[in-house]
Amino acid sequence: MQPTILDHVDRVARDVVSLVLRAERGPLAPWEPGAHIDLILPNWLTRQYSLCGEPDDRERYRIAVRHERLSRGGSDYIHRFLRRGHPIEVSAPRNNFPLRPAPEFLFLAGGIGITPILPMLRAAIAAGAVATLVYVGRSLATMPFTAQLRATYGGRVRLVATEHEGRPDFTALAAELPPRALVYCCGPSAMLDAAEAVFPAGRVHVERFRPPVKDFGPPRAFEAVCARSGRTIQVPPGETLLGALGHAGIAVPSGCREGVCGSCEITVVEGEPEHRDHLGAPPGRMYSCVSRACSPRLVLDL
Ligand code: FES
Repeated sequence: MQPTILDHVDRVARDVVSLVLRAERGPLAPWEPGAHIDLILPNWLTRQYSLCGEPDDRERYRIAVRHERLSRGGSDYIHRFLRRGHPIEVSAPRNNFPLRPAPEFLFLAGGIGITPILPMLRAAIAAGAVATLVYVGRSLATMPFTAQLRATYGGRVRLVATEHEGRPDFTALAAELPPRALVYCCGPSAMLDAAEAVFPAGRVHVERFRPPVKDFGPPRAFEAVCARSGRTIQVPPGETLLGALGHAGIAVPSGCREGVCGSCEITVVEGEPEHRDHLGAPPGRMYSCVSRACSPRLVLDL
């Protein structure tokens, strides 16, 4: 964890504030476009936000937060109570949405989904790529950073206010996609689903803040053996592995608890995990907030 101080809070669109978090001591951990951090809020909630500032600035992280009408306590707390000067613990950056090299890019952002796209667009253009951004929101008033985008990138950016223009035609964008272009999309689930449906698989990359609805079989009980402590924990069908470990006093960091952020990653030494996350766990790893076991027993590096 890294201690920071909230240095600036600026309203950047209707219901959206930008927060600048300054390192309390020493440089902050480095990051690359697409990365996010966990904020440990004073009300004990942990929330993930994409970094949208400058990766070269090791003194500050910048994020932007929309006040969600159905807030589960994170954005509501930030908008109502966080003020300049408050101390906030943040995690090291984690990147589930890395920018791959390509000669051309089409970036698609919906609403607050602009946050990871901002540093990606900057990096792509700095690397000499041809990059276009289609940025969609209900109205310009609800879309953060539009003035900055227009001033910096001019015609490379197309702003679409759906209340006047309707949604952009992704099928037409896919038909015009140059053969070597990659597509990066961040926004509401419906937008990500639409992008995945029309752009070629392998060339479209999406970042989800909420998991898509997926069908898994009914959860089964299994046993988790913690190799380092030698303890064996029973995980009943109605409990997550993360929860069962927590109840046994074995703390694993966590954030979203929905299989989309990667905070709760653990190493599997033996056994076959049943991956229920939306990130794609690397070999030998699993996300304990949602994933379970195909085998009756998992041995974990805990
Ligand atoms: S807590 Fe976010 S993936 Fe498990």
